[in-house]
Amino acid sequence: MAKFEKLVTLFFFLVIPNIVQVNANFIKSMRIEWGAQNALLWDDHLQLSLDKITGSGARTKIPFLFGNIESRIKLVPDNSAGTVISYYLSSEGNQRDEIDFEFLGNVSGQPYIIHTNIYTQGSGNREQQFYPWFDPTNDFHNYTIHWNPTEIVFYIDSIPIRVYRNYERDGIAYPNKQGMRVYTSIWNGDNWATNGGLVKIDWNYAPFTAKFNHFRARACKWLGDVSINQCALNIAENWWTSPIYKQLSYAQMGQLNWVRDNHMIYDYCHDTNRYNGQMPPECYKAQF
Ligand SMILES: *[C@@H]1O[C@H](CO)[C@@H](O)[C@H](O)[C@H]1NC(C)=O
Ligand SMILES: *[C@@H]1O[C@H](CO)[C@@H](O)[C@H](O)[C@H]1NC(C)=O
Repeated sequence: MAKFEKLVTLFFFLVIPNIVQVNANFIKSMRIEWGAQNALLWDDHLQLSLDKITGSGARTKIPFLFGNIESRIKLVPDNSAGTVISYYLSSEGNQRDEIDFEFLGNVSGQPYIIHTNIYTQGSGNREQQFYPWFDPTNDFHNYTIHWNPTEIVFYIDSIPIRVYRNYERDGIAYPNKQGMRVYTSIWNGDNWATNGGLVKIDWNYAPFTAKFNHFRARACKWLGDVSINQCALNIAENWWTSPIYKQLSYAQMGQLNWVRDNHMIYDYCHDTNRYNGQMPPECYKAQF
């Protein structure tokens, strides 16, 4: 028994130092990528705006493999119709993996849509959408992506809203072989975002500004190859001692069901028309 405990403690200490805790803040971990005239980055804050000339975007300096990615975000107040704020993980190239949060604006008084998607090896089409159960424009809320070798969980204010499990064993692709950077941006999406593209941006309300703070990436630094990534390997092999591995509790499953029953407005796995009854294979598997 004592021996086992010692072993567990040993694993624990082996795992922890390999996790690159980028607990710094926005200024240390991110850089402005485009639209610099509309972006501000200071201390633990990031502000991104969209005007008639350009949107703006930032990304982390380094890519990660597995971890918890956390940011507090305050969406565009008043009339934000046609604007899209993205906050996502992505690798590079046309075989890329992606884990997406996107926020689709609306006219004043009408709800934002929280859009999520997952790409594996270049193919997405795994959308789930939600109406927020709070006003996402009058305060900051905690949007966290939890990504480990066995599952991906999207959280809002610590409430899980979506889970995507690893069913690689059944031939279903899972993002675990490519490092991903964290990206965030605001852009003109009025060809699809609001009421399916019917409501265009009203430039009288520009600039449209999204505010971010408290960025934390407790994640493994990506070293270019899974086989040499000791941090990720430790998590994969010793998940039971890894601080990054945490399965949903029964209480969290209850919360997830509450979100799905009351606030989910679209689930690709329910869209039988779109797939002509031939649903993507993961739709036949338990997801949480
Ligand atoms: C944000 O949510 C994540 C996921 O539940 C949690 O681990 C983290 O502690 C939260 N951050 C804050 C500042 O509450
Ligand atoms: C905008 O408001 C309309 C009307 O309430 C709603 O149907 C739509 O889902 C809302 N969100 C977006 C992004 O279109």
